[in-house]
Amino acid sequence: MPSTSRLLAAEGVTLSEHREHFGPLPTVDRTQLIALLDEAGLSGRGGAGFPTGRKIAAVTGAKPVVVGNGAEGEPLSRKDAVLLTRAPHLVLDGLDTAAVAIGADKAYLYVHAEAVASVRTAVQERRAAGLDPYRVVVVEAPDMFVAGEESAAVRHIDGGPALPRDRIVLTAVAGVRGRPTLVNNVETLAHIALIVRFGADWFRQVGDDKDPGTMLVTLSGAVDGQGVLEVPTGTLLTELLAPRAVSAVLIGGYHGSWLPAATLHGARLSRTGLESLGASPGAGIVHALGPTDCGLARTAEITGYLAGQSARQCGPCRNGLPRLAELLDELAYGRANDPLVKEIRRITRLVDGRGSCRHPDGTARMVRSALRTFADDIELHHRGRCIAADVLAAEPN
Ligand SMILES: Cc1cc2nc3c(=O)[nH]c(=O)nc-3n(C[C@H](O)[C@H](O)[C@H](O)COP(=O)(O)O)c2cc1C
Ligand code: SF4
Repeated sequence: MPSTSRLLAAEGVTLSEHREHFGPLPTVDRTQLIALLDEAGLSGRGGAGFPTGRKIAAVTGAKPVVVGNGAEGEPLSRKDAVLLTRAPHLVLDGLDTAAVAIGADKAYLYVHAEAVASVRTAVQERRAAGLDPYRVVVVEAPDMFVAGEESAAVRHIDGGPALPRDRIVLTAVAGVRGRPTLVNNVETLAHIALIVRFGADWFRQVGDDKDPGTMLVTLSGAVDGQGVLEVPTGTLLTELLAPRAVSAVLIGGYHGSWLPAATLHGARLSRTGLESLGASPGAGIVHALGPTDCGLARTAEITGYLAGQSARQCGPCRNGLPRLAELLDELAYGRANDPLVKEIRRITRLVDGRGSCRHPDGTARMVRSALRTFADDIELHHRGRCIAADVLAAEPN
């Protein structure tokens, strides 16, 4: 299994163990930080892969605020919880660096319940040591899929429900308490803490040329070594999955894309590496389907979950996603005919781009990739059979 320990390299989680391993944290100003991150080529690790230097440059105006996003509402992701429990000070160093550079007097760590205790302990340790020249407020994120969406995080920190809001005004312009707000994923912040210490060239020493560095990956499903690992971006997918046989892989999580096993040879886990396959690593999620798992049943289950997780504030989530979930159930367990597939495609087109946030788009993308990847299964289901059941039946007792 290919692994490179940078983020998870320290021996222990205390401030002294952290300092012993990583050394002191240099202070950089806004211009230096943006130049350094542009040179390093760091992209956001929260899913969309936006260039981090550009994102920081967009936050201007009086009294800015920084938010570290560790909500991790995606059921297939564990990387932020692992990072926050194993290296909370690295995340806090990144938060510190970003806050000082943009002149913020307040910073928030918006984290999943699982990570609250370790983050609070780390914040207290730093306060006692006289670090962090501003207040760090730890806010627990509800365990919901959409709770980590940027505007939902802002809304919840402001005391409201953790639901996305209309994107009339950008968070960079008016976020928490109406102040300019920088929202970065906690892994992105931890990479910032390493880049200011060791430099852009060091960061680029491993990984994909166009999207360098390491990334945290959550590996799940039909694989040996399930869990979180740190690998160079651009790692071969087959290296992560070997030696088990898989029939398909869901890359990028519930808003990601299914890829058939036959397309995985030579495919690399990075945005550039997966572009030609129409996929993206998202927040570093690789979920493998074994030969005896039914891809249509799994897709129906995920679509049902996503339909239940929407805020039902917008039309596509109120009507479109529940309908998609019904149709996917029908495809997996009922009649799998052409009109049904056509209707599923029609609904995915209807919901695409019509919500206040990307929840409908992400769901539609995952469903469309399932129709492509499991086309043979649809044909078999139409004839009352199932690939997974056939494999199971052929296995020796
Ligand atoms: C439905 C939905 C859920 C999201 N959940 C998370 C999350 O749990 N954590 C996260 O960092 N970003 C999440 N995002 C992405 C954030 O909106 C935002 O882009 C990200 O926190 C920015 O950080 P980055 O630039 O460091 O990647 C989600 C986006 C969507 C549309
Ligand atoms: S698109 Fe769906 S999840 Fe997003 S804000 Fe609207 S109702 Fe909520």
